Amino acid sequence: MKDLDDLSFNEFDEVINPPPEETDFDRVVDSAMSRRDLFKSVIAFGSVAALGNTLMPSLATAAPNRFAFDAIGTSTDDAIKVPYGYNAHVVVRWGDPLWSSAPEFDHASRGTGASQAKAMGDNNDGMEVYAHGDKTVLICNNEYCNRSVIWGNREGGKATGADDYLKGMNAHGLTAVEIVEKDGQWTIVKDSSYNRRFTPDVAMEITGPAAGHDLMKTAADPAGKEVLGTFNNCGNGSTPWGTYLACEENFNGYFATADQEHKMSPEMKRYGVSPKGRGYGWHEIDPRFDLAKEANEANRHGYVTEVNALDPKSKPKKRTALGRFKHENAEVVVNGDGRIVVYMGDDERGEFLYRYVSNGVYAPGGETDSLLEDGKLYVAKFSDSGGGIWLELTPKSTGMASMAEICIHTRIAASAVGATTMDRPEWVSANPKAAEIYCCLTNNKNRGKKTNAGGDETPVGGPNPREANKYGQIVRWRPSNADHTSDTFEWDLYVLAGNPSVHKDIRGGSKNVNEGNMFNSPDGLKFDSNGLLWIQTDGNYSNEKDFAGQGNNQMLAGDPATGEIRRFLTGPKQCEITGLTWSPDRRTMFVGVQHPGERGEGHWPDGGELTPRSAIIAVRRDDGGLVG
Ligand code: FEO
Ligand code: CA
Ligand code: CA
Repeated sequence: MKDLDDLSFNEFDEVINPPPEETDFDRVVDSAMSRRDLFKSVIAFGSVAALGNTLMPSLATAAPNRFAFDAIGTSTDDAIKVPYGYNAHVVVRWGDPLWSSAPEFDHASRGTGASQAKAMGDNNDGMEVYAHGDKTVLICNNEYCNRSVIWGNREGGKATGADDYLKGMNAHGLTAVEIVEKDGQWTIVKDSSYNRRFTPDVAMEITGPAAGHDLMKTAADPAGKEVLGTFNNCGNGSTPWGTYLACEENFNGYFATADQEHKMSPEMKRYGVSPKGRGYGWHEIDPRFDLAKEANEANRHGYVTEVNALDPKSKPKKRTALGRFKHENAEVVVNGDGRIVVYMGDDERGEFLYRYVSNGVYAPGGETDSLLEDGKLYVAKFSDSGGGIWLELTPKSTGMASMAEICIHTRIAASAVGATTMDRPEWVSANPKAAEIYCCLTNNKNRGKKTNAGGDETPVGGPNPREANKYGQIVRWRPSNADHTSDTFEWDLYVLAGNPSVHKDIRGGSKNVNEGNMFNSPDGLKFDSNGLLWIQTDGNYSNEKDFAGQGNNQMLAGDPATGEIRRFLTGPKQCEITGLTWSPDRRTMFVGVQHPGERGEGHWPDGGELTPRSAIIAVRRDDGGLVG
């Protein structure tokens, strides 16, 4: 077996908790083949993208010159590259202290538990920038810690004791920090009253249907209404009333116990919770992460958390009404009638795509606390022929006892109603110029091969058209009557990523993919205010075999109307590019660089032989013009 540290979150879950064996494998294969044949007949007309552009043209108005840059090539260098006329600089890195009382990052020790609690966390991911008067506040997720780096100075790269575990723990959570621009250079403002770390011991309120349910009660919180910490937040969302949404993804790996025979319930197994844990060692320093000592703590994670970054004393709120799964991001849309709609993916092989619709309506300046607490939760079912429906998750539709249980065991509820198993739904983004929504389906080596952890089949077809999908695709859908609360929609594929230099079949990608713009594993996704779609990758950076010529992870821009995609940025070695937002004046684009040098190759951004560090960079035009 590979070292567990080398496995992706998805691979790890399958090693510790293999999906059920197929019970009717022939039937699955037959169904997959017939769907694929249907799809091939579509492709014969001139690619999947052509299907999108002819049958479902984007509502976005095509501007004559959408791209204000010339595409760049791929790169395998340990550097950030941007187009001619643009520049990039680092704003904040893992370990940069937020207060002058804390030490600067020490490359030899790589910090301590105490220094890490007062410094920028590791592995920045989703982020947002908020203006408050003349102040600018950045808040970001610190998804997880790179154990190979944070403990890379230890014998065998392993933690040596309690403080190493604590350092790893404190590298998680969220970081809020005031930033300021002078002469085109952004820096953090140390000691600002906005600066705040949300480490895994910060108290948060549990709201919504699951609050106070027996499954949410623990020894430390017998009422089931207050939890410590939010961690493994991947993508994010932002509300029209100015709050930040952090989205808890692979929360399962932080729970473990010394007793490897400790029995897990089927519900815990569905979420990949296992006595093995993932190697973070939190159960060694805090008993609530020990599965044998605290049965319910894991039920209190896997949610969307609402945070007010502009009020440093505010208490974050876990919004259980938005369901519990491995959240990627939370794309918030104000529907025409004022209801709040949130689109969300569950990033695991064969899991689902969700929608939340508030019962109340949003009015600027009005009450907003109930909008993410009181509403209806749905899951998507796609037909192969281009239609789809949202299935509401209720006790009646799922056979489950209550909305509380549905909000805690959302995956099980979605399986019960027969939702479509997807190729790992990542970020969702809504086009600001049209009622259409896009979602990255990053890859899925199990497509057509294995069920998901709940035993649901994963047939090839519909928005998941390739067996053992290595490259990923972006699906988009348009709600009926441009109403985001409508229960029906039409869908197509915006792009099928692929490698046309290696494959001449469907693995070469759709017509809008060529040797000049190819990429794999789309993950981060965000529209800018002009309706240009920015695509970030978390893919295979080997630059060989199936991925030959694709180089390091990258960021591209896509025109929704024409399908054209151009490469804008390439990252340093072994990184992922994830997280995107803009300064209030739209003259700076902030881009996240996660886990550079994660496998020992690369020293970005400090160079030499120094420790690689995740960081947020600012990208600007040389002429100071608008960038989105
Ligand atoms: Fe943290 Fe789904 O990526
Ligand atoms: Ca991601
Ligand atoms: Ca990732």
